[in-house]
Amino acid sequence: MNLPFSPAAERNQQVILERLQALLPDSGSALEIASGTGQHAVGFAQHLPGWRWQPSEADEALVSAIDARVQIAGLQARVRPALRLDVLARSWPIQCDGQPEAFDLIFCANLLHISPWPVCEGLMHGAATHLAPEGRLVTYGPYLEDGVPTAPGNQAFDASLRANNAAWGIRRLEAVAQQAQATGLALRERYAMPANNLLVVWAREPAAY
Ligand SMILES: C[S@@+](CC[C@H](N)C(=O)[O-])C[C@H]1O[C@@H](n2cnc3c(N)ncnc32)[C@H](O)[C@@H]1O
Repeated sequence: MNLPFSPAAERNQQVILERLQALLPDSGSALEIASGTGQHAVGFAQHLPGWRWQPSEADEALVSAIDARVQIAGLQARVRPALRLDVLARSWPIQCDGQPEAFDLIFCANLLHISPWPVCEGLMHGAATHLAPEGRLVTYGPYLEDGVPTAPGNQAFDASLRANNAAWGIRRLEAVAQQAQATGLALRERYAMPANNLLVVWAREPAAY
């Protein structure tokens, strides 16, 4: 079977995995947003054996590809069938006993720059709704940062994204943080990753009392 394949996901999987292994406890539940080809879901489920993984995708064709990849890897016991989930949906289709299901980790790689800005709003709103009280949202991808010179590679990438779709583009981390804050999430950790990417950890703001 010819499954869609992302060379980028193949390249960045190991470094993201190592960071997740350092950050996460031995077990928990994860919701992955924009799983794409499912390569990350399979790779992470293989190497985070205590974690139960819920992949999701907005693109219906990719939903079946993710399930096929999980089946080939024999990971159905730890990876749930992929959900069709568009982060722009007002309410995400993941309920448990009529309540939004809560996850210890929400992971989202390479979505914010290849989508219009409202996708960032949707991601933060949904994450704030579906994160367990101590849960963490982890985003991965390129960002612009105030006061940090943008790498030439990211400048060119940003220009090519915008040429492709005027609503796309590498986001300012400060703008994403502002959006997170509007939903009660705060930027907790920032890790520089290869190829001018960042892995960013977001969590609930501590209660003000
Ligand atoms: C560049 S790919 C990244 C895939 C994967 N996370 C990775 O890093 O290889 C972006 C993915 O975001 C998905 N996507 C785009 N808009 C979305 C939305 N509104 N909600 C959920 N997923 C979306 C696309 O279908 C695509 O699979």
